[in-house]
Amino acid sequence: PRIAVFASGAGSNANEIARYFSGKSIADIALIVCNKPGAGVYQVAENHRIPTLTISREQFLKGDAYVPELQAAGIDFIVLAGFLWKVPMPLIQAFSNRIINIHPALLPDYGGKGMYGHFVHEAVIANKEKESGITIHYVDEHYDHGSTIFQATCQIDEQDTPDTLAQKIHLLEHAHFAPTIEKLVQAL
Ligand code: GRF
Repeated sequence: PRIAVFASGAGSNANEIARYFSGKSIADIALIVCNKPGAGVYQVAENHRIPTLTISREQFLKGDAYVPELQAAGIDFIVLAGFLWKVPMPLIQAFSNRIINIHPALLPDYGGKGMYGHFVHEAVIANKEKESGITIHYVDEHYDHGSTIFQATCQIDEQDTPDTLAQKIHLLEHAHFAPTIEKLVQAL
C-alpha cells in the first residue's frame, strides 16, 4: 500500500512513521500533505526524500483537484499526524474507512473543535486528571469522532505540567502510531 501522511506541524510523528517504514516493504510513505508553508514537516519530507503537496484551505474543502491527484498517485491509505483541519466529505468518501488520525488524549474526553496540541494538555492538567494518553481512530465528518482503533495511557504525576505531559504523549505516539498503521495496512 501507498500511504499519504497529512501533517502541518513539527512533523515528529511523520518522521517516526517514515523511519519505521523505510526499512520495510509492507508499505511506502509516498506523499506528505501539508497546509502550512514553512512547517517543520517539510524538513522531515526532505530528509526522507518524500514528495510533498501543499494545500490551501479552499482547495482542501473542495477536493476536486487534490483528491484525484491522490488517487492518481496510487494512495490507498491516509494518516493524519498533526493535521488540524476537519476532513471534508469529498476526501472521506474517496477514502472510506481508510483515513486515520492520532489524538493526544483519551477520546471521547478532551476532543472536539479547539481541543488540539497544547490546549488538550492544559485542560487535562487543569482538571487534575490522573492519567491521559493517545487515541488512534478512524476519521469521519466530525472532529475526533470516528471509531477507536487503539489507545495507550500514561500516568500524570503532581509535578507534571502541560509541557511535561506533552513530552510523555509524544513518546507514546512515537512508540505506537507506526506499528498500528502497519497492522491496518496489512489487513487492506
Ligand atoms: C501530535 O501530538 C498529535 O497527536 C496532534 O498533533 C501533534 C503533532 O505533533 N494531533 P508532530 O507534528 O507530529 O510533532
